[in-house]
Amino acid sequence: MDFLELARERYSCKKYAPTPVEKEKLDAILEAARIAPTAKNSQPQRVYVLQSEEALSKADGLTPCRYGAPVMLLIAYDRDLVFHYPGGVYDSGAEDMGIVATHAMLAAAAEGVDSCWVNFFDPDKAAKAFGLPENEVPVLFLDLGYAAPEAGPLDNHIKRKPLEETTTWL
Ligand SMILES: Cc1cc2nc3c(=O)[nH]c(=O)nc-3n(C[C@H](O)[C@H](O)[C@H](O)COP(=O)(O)O)c2cc1C
Repeated sequence: MDFLELARERYSCKKYAPTPVEKEKLDAILEAARIAPTAKNSQPQRVYVLQSEEALSKADGLTPCRYGAPVMLLIAYDRDLVFHYPGGVYDSGAEDMGIVATHAMLAAAAEGVDSCWVNFFDPDKAAKAFGLPENEVPVLFLDLGYAAPEAGPLDNHIKRKPLEETTTWL
């Protein structure tokens, strides 16, 4: 499958079968997260694989958006490693994690594993629940699993603005 086909076919899965995700597929997804580009190659990502009952039930206490996924990644960054923009206000942490998570999400699709990106949680509560060190900032959960038979893309999956609305050629 070529890249655009993969990108078009991926969708946010909101109902998973209980089928576990094979270790080699998880390894491929984690490898994609590992090799993602980051500002100044500082590699601030810290990826937590949640698959024990205890970890998943903690996640359920933080967000309603696990949707039965048997595995979630909690993607955080080390605030001591991020690039600080000139001006001193902004840093690259969330951007870096956006790329790390996109690598993981598309690698999952390439492995035939469904996923959903989840921001609907309180990062401070997540850091506390999972005992993250003080310098780590959670950015998102990534649900991973196999879609339940009745699951499928929501209507909004194909609702993308036309190129002319989002792109300007100068
Ligand atoms: C940054 C970001 C945050 C998201 N947070 C959530 C979330 O908390 N819960 C959820 O169910 N879906 C979440 N999604 C999934 C989006 O709702 C979904 O990607 C969007 O509606 C387009 O649908 P599609 O991915 O099926 O094409 C998130 C997606 C992104 C990119």
